[in-house]
Amino acid sequence: MTWEELENKCRECTACELHKTRTNPVFGCGNRRATLMFVGEAPGESEDLSGTPFVGRAGKLFDKYLEAVDIPRESVYIANILKCRPPKNRDPLPEEEDACIDLLREQVRLIKPKMIVCLGRIAAMRLIHPDFRITREHGVWVRKGAFDLCAVYHPSLLLRDPRRKEEMLVDMKAVKARLEQWEKQTPADAE
Ligand code: URA
Repeated sequence: MTWEELENKCRECTACELHKTRTNPVFGCGNRRATLMFVGEAPGESEDLSGTPFVGRAGKLFDKYLEAVDIPRESVYIANILKCRPPKNRDPLPEEEDACIDLLREQVRLIKPKMIVCLGRIAAMRLIHPDFRITREHGVWVRKGAFDLCAVYHPSLLLRDPRRKEEMLVDMKAVKARLEQWEKQTPADAE
C-alpha cells in the first residue's frame, strides 16, 4: 500500500463507531523515513480539530521533552493507536483498537523505524504486552521483531502528576542515546 492509499483508507474509514463523532481523523505526521517513531493513545480535542497528533496541552509538553533531548519533532514520526477521538477522551475500547490497528501496522511497514516509543500505558499494552505496568516498566527496552521498543509516560499523565517529570527526562535521554547509536549504524544518507 502507498502512503496516499493509506491516508485515503484512514479518511474514509468506518470500521468503528468513532468516525461518526470525530471532526477529523488524525493519521499521523512527521518524517516518513524516521528511525524513531512515537505512538500515543488517541487524539484529544485539539488533535481532533486540527487533524494533527500531539498539538494540545500534552503535545506542547511532549515538544519540550523532544527539545530538551535535542530530537527535532520533524525528524521523527508521530502516530496514535486510534486515529479518531473517543468521545470525552475516554479510553479506547478493545474493539476500536482492533478496528484501527492495521492502519498503524501499515504505517510502521512503510516507515520501517528502528525504534518505537509508546507514549503511555495504552499504547504499551497494545504494542509491548497486554499487562504492561507503566510505573514499573517505563524506560525498559525490549526487542520485538525488527524493532527496539519501550514506553515512556504519557505527557498528559505528567500534567496530572508533575513528580514523574524527572523520570520522563531520564527516559527521553535514553531514547536519544539509543537513537544516536542507530544513526551511527545507519547514517541518513546511506540509503
Ligand atoms: N494524546 C494522545 O495519546 N495522542 C494525541 O495525539 C494527543 C493526546
